[in-house]
Amino acid sequence: MNEKVGTDIKRAASHLKAGELVAIPTETVYGLAANALDEVAVTRIFEVKNRPQFNPLILHIANLAQLEKLDLRFPAKALALAEKFSPGPLTYLIPTSSKVPGIVTAGTPAVAIRIPNHPMTLQLLNLLDFPLAAPSANPSGLVSPTKASHVSEQLGDQVNYILDGGECQIGLESTIISFLEPIPRILRYGGITTEAIEAVIGPVNLPEGGFVDNPVAPGMLARHYATNHPLLLGNADSLIAQAHQTDPIPRIVTISLNQTYKEIPTAYQFQLSPSADLSEAARRLFATMRLADEMDIDLIIAQEFPDRGLGRAINDRLKRASTEAGQFLKPLTQ
Ligand code: TXA
Ligand code: MG
Repeated sequence: MNEKVGTDIKRAASHLKAGELVAIPTETVYGLAANALDEVAVTRIFEVKNRPQFNPLILHIANLAQLEKLDLRFPAKALALAEKFSPGPLTYLIPTSSKVPGIVTAGTPAVAIRIPNHPMTLQLLNLLDFPLAAPSANPSGLVSPTKASHVSEQLGDQVNYILDGGECQIGLESTIISFLEPIPRILRYGGITTEAIEAVIGPVNLPEGGFVDNPVAPGMLARHYATNHPLLLGNADSLIAQAHQTDPIPRIVTISLNQTYKEIPTAYQFQLSPSADLSEAARRLFATMRLADEMDIDLIIAQEFPDRGLGRAINDRLKRASTEAGQFLKPLTQ
């Protein structure tokens, strides 16, 4: 048993007060947390994740009352959303203040704020008199962790404590919405759907350029969530057919909502939700990508998800994990 993994919230708090790193559970994915007001501690997050310093971090707080101490203010539409969705998987990008260290915002004029919805982490935040800066607790560019064991496998040596809050219930990162423009803009699809947001505050803008890099959010690089094996996203039937025309034929594992593929052995097919429930699929996505990647295969083929609700966030993560089919498979007509 790894003595660094446990459920001791007070111990987590004392490491954080000492300027050390603690992995924290949230409803979305595990975070790699440090005292956001301690620049040395925050610098450690970037080192441990091997994350470029131009990529800013989300500030996690226990409740909106903490904003005042940081000289931060939510605009009216953000407040309306917070009333409905916070604590929860929604992150608000608002103008920053001089109280927030530049390393947290990567020197940009905006700060990202989230109230995570996990009882242990809310309790932890209530023991602290500072907010926590926390990116997802994975090495930069790799799949995000949804279990404490994922964190200990990838970053175990470099964190002081891993607070084990069980399996993440949402399984995908928070939705990020920016209030820097007159019409709010979704910067990252995530745990709260666009449909649910628009039901509260009316029309919002969508990420610029769809899946590609977003200049407002430098961390949302096109290639992210990378598996070791190449992952192709699209129409799985036709990708399998193309793969079967290559020589040698690659060993394939599939990931889909609930589809089956007769050419692929059953043990090599992952259905994220047999009942086609997108929230169940979201919850299982990252853990399944890890399992698929650990198999003795050459190629992961993922069927594109429905372009609605959480399906959009799932497609976004798979798209960023994916390789261009053309780079891996010879075109059919040749
Ligand atoms: O669900 C989540 O949001 C998880 C949990 C741990 O809270 N956190 C998370 O953090 O996904 P991270 O660092 O993996 O992704 C945060 C994204 C990055 O792409 C970053 O570029 C963007 O948020 N971001 C953070 N602060 C920003 C800022 N000031 N301006 C623009 N983008 C920002
Ligand atoms: Mg991340």
